[in-house]
Amino acid sequence: MRNVIVPDHPLLRHKLALLRDRTTTTAKFRQVAREISLLMAYEVTRDLPLEPIDIETPLEPMRAEHLAGKKLCIVSILRAGNGILEGMLDLVPSARVGHIGLFRDPVSLHPVEYYLKLPSDIAERTVILVDPMLATGNSAVAAVSRLKQAGVTTLKFVCLLAAPEGIATFTEAHPDVAVFAGAIDRELDSHGYIRPGLGDAGDRFYGTR
Ligand code: URA
Repeated sequence: MRNVIVPDHPLLRHKLALLRDRTTTTAKFRQVAREISLLMAYEVTRDLPLEPIDIETPLEPMRAEHLAGKKLCIVSILRAGNGILEGMLDLVPSARVGHIGLFRDPVSLHPVEYYLKLPSDIAERTVILVDPMLATGNSAVAAVSRLKQAGVTTLKFVCLLAAPEGIATFTEAHPDVAVFAGAIDRELDSHGYIRPGLGDAGDRFYGTR
């Protein structure tokens, strides 16, 4: 699949098993999701440009490197996106943060925006959009469209689990946006759940079920 990256790291595979396990408590789920998000942040920032910088160590001057180019913004799709925001920020603490809230209209079944708060300079930033579950793909497609409308040109999408159906919908709508997924599962079921999946990510993050 073009533009779909599934990092192959044993720690990621191990931690995803913990996340999926039905006996994992809410506290443990949050902790492990944070750790996985940090690993995903590491992968999604792998191609950030660097430039040379002259510094002095306690022993001598040297030419080192630091990040160059656009600053980062992480945008969370509410509410479950917030569960992986903290882990991303652990690795890139100076990133700005945006939020987008979408609900599914019960008649049209299309995503409707109910909340949007983005940094005013978002068009100048590299945006990492986060949502733990890429299920139908409809929310992620709508969120990316909204970000592009706000002027964003450099964009990546990070999820923990993806359904093949969600990936197909997303990559067809936004072939220019790379998808970083912790794993690609078997299928989307008739209730919109990813199988085998991990259940409802929001409920598992917040203990609301
Ligand atoms: N959202 C979830 O939280 N879980 C799924 O399996 C699909 C969508």
